[in-house]
Amino acid sequence: MTGYQFVAIERTGHVAIVTIQRPDKLNALNAAVVEELTRAFSDLIGVSAPDEEVRAAILTGAGKAFVAGADIAEMAAMSTTAAKRFADAGHRLGALIEGAPFPVLAAVNGFALGGGCELALACDFIYAAEGAKLGQPEVNLGITPGFGGTQRLLRRVGAARARELIYTGDMITAEQALSMGLVNAIFPAAELLLRARDTALKIASRGPLAVAAAKRVMLRGEGIDLTSANELEAQAFAALFGTEDQKAGMKAFVEKSKATFSGK
Ligand code: COA
Repeated sequence: MTGYQFVAIERTGHVAIVTIQRPDKLNALNAAVVEELTRAFSDLIGVSAPDEEVRAAILTGAGKAFVAGADIAEMAAMSTTAAKRFADAGHRLGALIEGAPFPVLAAVNGFALGGGCELALACDFIYAAEGAKLGQPEVNLGITPGFGGTQRLLRRVGAARARELIYTGDMITAEQALSMGLVNAIFPAAELLLRARDTALKIASRGPLAVAAAKRVMLRGEGIDLTSANELEAQAFAALFGTEDQKAGMKAFVEKSKATFSGK
């Protein structure tokens, strides 16, 4: 996993921390950053060595921003064709993170605006640093969100809140984001990554096939009727009884010991 200019990947056991590194431009997403992030998550998803497999990931930004949006300088001269290609690339990245077979936690260390907020929304949940600012300011530039904001924000915080944020383009504080369920928790900036890592390590210690199945069922179930979604859940639940992890987890409980999961 080398050859990145704008992305750094750090591993702690089964946890990967992906840091966007373009701090002089507040980590603005140009085509190269989107491509590298897509490659980074593809690489992490592709790790198959049991000792190195990723069971939880954290996405964060270097410097004072998580991501201050798609790169406005790069977008300014785009044709409609180029803009569609750019939006498609952003959507591919969002879908990759959202569909990754492990949870991805966004550690929003500062501005998460436009494409930055959309990137955080593609993650399973968001922790924010005190002082972080979030929002979808695209209408100030005469455009709409283009990396999934109109859809994922709406699903995350509800239609009325999403409409207000997107129509006004207002930035909100971490506290406001917490109160509407956009972020799960706020921590002092110096603690954010430690707390995110604690949660990721906890998730990584659980049955990885079970966590992956829960993620898959919650994601697929969101867009379909409840009866069909519950059927998906029942199938996933049953399938886990064919795994070594289920045997190990239940045996450990009965023996009052701590389970070690192989992911098989
Ligand atoms: N695209 C391209 N460059 C960006 C950027 C973006 N979305 N956001 C910030 N930058 C660049 C600035 O142009 C500046 O570059 P420079 O030093 O070469 O001039 C650098 O990052 C630092 O940003 P700056 O504006 O000086 O920082 P600030 O602390 O004064 O303001 C923001 C921070 C986030 C309020 C401000 O940068 C901003 O409004 N950014 C755009 C947010 C936005 O509209 N995002 C949605 C895009 S669809």
